[in-house]
Amino acid sequence: NETIYILAIESSCDDTSVAVLKNDTMLSNVVASQKIHEEYGGVVPELASRAHQQNIVPITSLALAKANIDKNQLSAIAFTRGPGLLGSLLVGTSFAKSLSLALGIPLIEVNHMQAHILAHFIRAENMKPPSFPFLALTISGGHTQIVKVTNYFDMEILGQTLDDAVGEAFDKSAKILGLPYPGGPLIDKYAVSGNPYAFEFPIPKVKDLDFSFSGLKTSILYFIQKQTTQNENFIEENLEDLCSSIQYTIITILMGKLKKAVKKTGIKRIAIGGGVSANSGIRKALKDAEKALGWTTYVPNFEFCTDNAGMIGIVGYYKYKSGQFAGQETSAKARYHL
Ligand code: KG4
Ligand code: ZN
Repeated sequence: NETIYILAIESSCDDTSVAVLKNDTMLSNVVASQKIHEEYGGVVPELASRAHQQNIVPITSLALAKANIDKNQLSAIAFTRGPGLLGSLLVGTSFAKSLSLALGIPLIEVNHMQAHILAHFIRAENMKPPSFPFLALTISGGHTQIVKVTNYFDMEILGQTLDDAVGEAFDKSAKILGLPYPGGPLIDKYAVSGNPYAFEFPIPKVKDLDFSFSGLKTSILYFIQKQTTQNENFIEENLEDLCSSIQYTIITILMGKLKKAVKKTGIKRIAIGGGVSANSGIRKALKDAEKALGWTTYVPNFEFCTDNAGMIGIVGYYKYKSGQFAGQETSAKARYHL
């Protein structure tokens, strides 16, 4: 049985990441988050792609050094082909193609959304992979999807957002409250000591298993505008209750759709991923559902929830084993479906 070493590259958004895997275990997983976007209150695509260009060579050297292997030991190069920001994807794609050519080893293209899901199969402490079939809920600043996963490469999108991603809903709500970007973790922090029923925000009516979060942001904005004209200290006097109520609304939306998906498919294994999986409210709601509804839930270690090359590498490993390679003519794809 051959040992497979994969070098994986992720550059779809604002994190430059390179990982080295030995089969399904991580030898290194280096992530360089781009601080530059904070002062703009969101990711600026042009700046992201420039930062990837600066980061990618040193991050690759660091990942190889941390893994303590030589580049000549590598079996293949895996990279994120899409979906994501085109300028950012181009950096990782071109770099991966050059490396594969220079080292004379195969190239493996990876779908970022598939990677968020297969991150559950990374062999690591505190993690147990779900058995097939399972439902995956991918929630981050860029994605909101419910996917039925029948096998490693057999996935079907059951529902997704029609507008904002759930992380954006957190971040935009936080911005309305005057909190810095990204505000999701701060909402979570203040929500802990607030009353989730203090304020009521509407749950959008969206068909089947799809989501919509842009209306929530608007209703929060109007509500805050109205209240602050009557009391200019309204936000600071109610910050915990506001955060708690907003978080409660978002979790109610997510859990409502998950329950629908379970009912539709009969599958009670739920695996979540993406940066919003860090949210304490969603984690608690899932734990409660284990007891109340008999679900089994899976949350990967946090380093594998947020964008990272380790998850690209695990897809690379499974694709390598099944002989799914790409040619030098492959190109970045901003819209790339599962
Ligand atoms: O996966 P990620 O690091 O990057 C992508 O967007 O792909 O996710 C980042 C998102 C941001 O919107 C951030 O506010 C949100 O995840 N987030 C949270 C929490 N931690 C991160 N949202 C709510 N509660 C949290 N604890
Ligand atoms: Zn992502």
